[in-house]
Amino acid sequence: MQLGVCYYPEHWPREYWATDAARMADIGIARVRIGEFAWSRIEPEPGRYDWAWLDAAIETLAAAGLKIILGTPTATPPKWLVDQMPDMLAVDAHGNPRNFGSRRHYCFSHAEYRTQSARIVTALVQRYGAHPAITAWQTDNEYGCHDTVVSYSGAAAAAFRIWLCGKYGDIGALNRAWGTVFWSMEYRSFDEVDPPHQTVTEAHPSHTLDYRRFASDEVVSYNRAQVDIIRTHASSADIMHNFMGFFTEFDHHAVGADIDVAGWDSYPLGFLEQFFFTEAEKTEYARTGHPSIAAFHHDLYRSCTKDGRWWVAEQQPGPVNWARYNPAPAPGMVRLWTLEAMAHGAELVSYFRWRQAPFAQEQMHTGLLRPDSSEDIGASEARQVALDIKTIGDTHKTRQASVALLFDYESIWAIQIQPQGASYNALELVYRFYCALRRRGLDVDIVSRHHTLDGYQIAAIPCLSVLDDDTARRLKTFDGQIILGPRSGSKTPDFQIPDALAPGALQSLIPVKIVRAESLRPSLGQSGTLPSGAQFRAERWLEHAEFASDVDVIAQLESGMPAALRHERAVYLTVWPDAALLDYVMGDACALAGLPAENLPEGLVCRRLGNLRFAFNYGAAPIDLSDYLAGAEAFEYVLNNAHIAAADVAVWRE
Ligand code: GAL
Repeated sequence: MQLGVCYYPEHWPREYWATDAARMADIGIARVRIGEFAWSRIEPEPGRYDWAWLDAAIETLAAAGLKIILGTPTATPPKWLVDQMPDMLAVDAHGNPRNFGSRRHYCFSHAEYRTQSARIVTALVQRYGAHPAITAWQTDNEYGCHDTVVSYSGAAAAAFRIWLCGKYGDIGALNRAWGTVFWSMEYRSFDEVDPPHQTVTEAHPSHTLDYRRFASDEVVSYNRAQVDIIRTHASSADIMHNFMGFFTEFDHHAVGADIDVAGWDSYPLGFLEQFFFTEAEKTEYARTGHPSIAAFHHDLYRSCTKDGRWWVAEQQPGPVNWARYNPAPAPGMVRLWTLEAMAHGAELVSYFRWRQAPFAQEQMHTGLLRPDSSEDIGASEARQVALDIKTIGDTHKTRQASVALLFDYESIWAIQIQPQGASYNALELVYRFYCALRRRGLDVDIVSRHHTLDGYQIAAIPCLSVLDDDTARRLKTFDGQIILGPRSGSKTPDFQIPDALAPGALQSLIPVKIVRAESLRPSLGQSGTLPSGAQFRAERWLEHAEFASDVDVIAQLESGMPAALRHERAVYLTVWPDAALLDYVMGDACALAGLPAENLPEGLVCRRLGNLRFAFNYGAAPIDLSDYLAGAEAFEYVLNNAHIAAADVAVWRE
């Protein structure tokens, strides 16, 4: 694994560049990511390119021995371009344009913007595609950042109609699939169908689900157009896009299929603050991030590309500027996050950014250097971790994990479209499953529903609300343990209730029929007792099930209703599970799969890489590994030992 840094030569006087490059190399940085927002400097006026500065920047970095990741600048179209075609702006759900003045102000469906974007990418890659120092290209920057996947522009409406026509062929098929007879929503032609927005009450869910699919496909085809151009002129370079955290607006598996490397931008403290974590978790992990935030995304994006190649394209180096609160990481965390990426198989961790900018939107976002060029704390941790990587050795390869956790973008969209309960956050449920698997010490591959399940002992399926026949068939033939979350198979791909009721075709796996589903306000939560005697709580969601006599109730609520049902290899959860219920179900699955189940505390997370195992202490207190892993005192340590201080790491040979 190598270290990298994100650098914006256009932000700094030229005299800085050589020194910056030398200092990067001195820290142990091997790669530098540049260019992704520089359109207004590359093409200051329509058709007039200024390559001189970028030529010089590339030569300066290359002369210091750095390899370059060059970004296409399409996330920041310049003012003159927007003025030429103001309708290239995306339009929000209220019908307002997303104006110039920050970034990502374009609509993926605007044909002429696509032409302009192809033009600038072609110009860039024709000039630099053969440069030996440029070993990778980044397409655009963070598709969807600032809520920019779904647009309701005229261009999007027109493209949507064509997409619908391609999918359904005739309007009758659409009317039947959606059920537009409801509320007299029937259409006579595709031309009549508008994007689902600004309706009086909620728009038709099948319509909205198709719009989300369409919007996702627009991202995929937009990215593919850039990839095709880059491949033509820079055939030996890697192509990467930088995905985001807890972001599900487009199908990342589909974008991943077109690129070589899945990058993602890791800001554990910002994500803790911005997403679904409880106040208690936000307090406890304010300076470390919740222990599975980074790992969850490492494991998710690793399986997005066909070869499993992935990078941390941006790594939080200190306080960021964009969350509600932006604390400093605990000392050691920048190093810990870096080594954790290594444990999950990253090829690169690239810090964002080299030097804190004294101007513009992100002036409060730290870098490895402060605005005055003195080293900030992140730089010294990067220097340290460069040495740690040498100590550990960089030849270790990721192995297939024992558990496949299914991650299905469409199913998450379906629940978002029709949550049926204010607290049902599908992405959170997936994350909570992941945490429970890791408390059992299991390594996890997060995979799409199309991914093979061969070789896995457990398939954990927290959110597969939209079930297609092929997936149902493949699950039926999988011979490992299967754990199904609530709402599994509750919708057809057209967004209708299946004829057999939920879980639809999964009834061939477990003969259970959900006859009623209710969401629970907090006062309606119920407790239950597990076979171990431990208590659990069911909050948020409860399903009423009818089931065959050969289905066992393995966890029951105090009301007598089941919370978890088992038939042969499959478990179905009829409630939103708490940590105790998840721990029980995961432990049970391990026992049946013949896997050792550990009992790790939340703050201690582990991961295998080749024949190494890494342990990371996210807790505030030191951890003695031998309290949790038998024989830990005598492990063959490569880094540290069984006594892991807060924000520290241990690595041993297994
Ligand atoms: C990312 C983005 C970067 C920078 C960073 C700040 O979302 O790709 O350009 O804005 O966040 O944390």
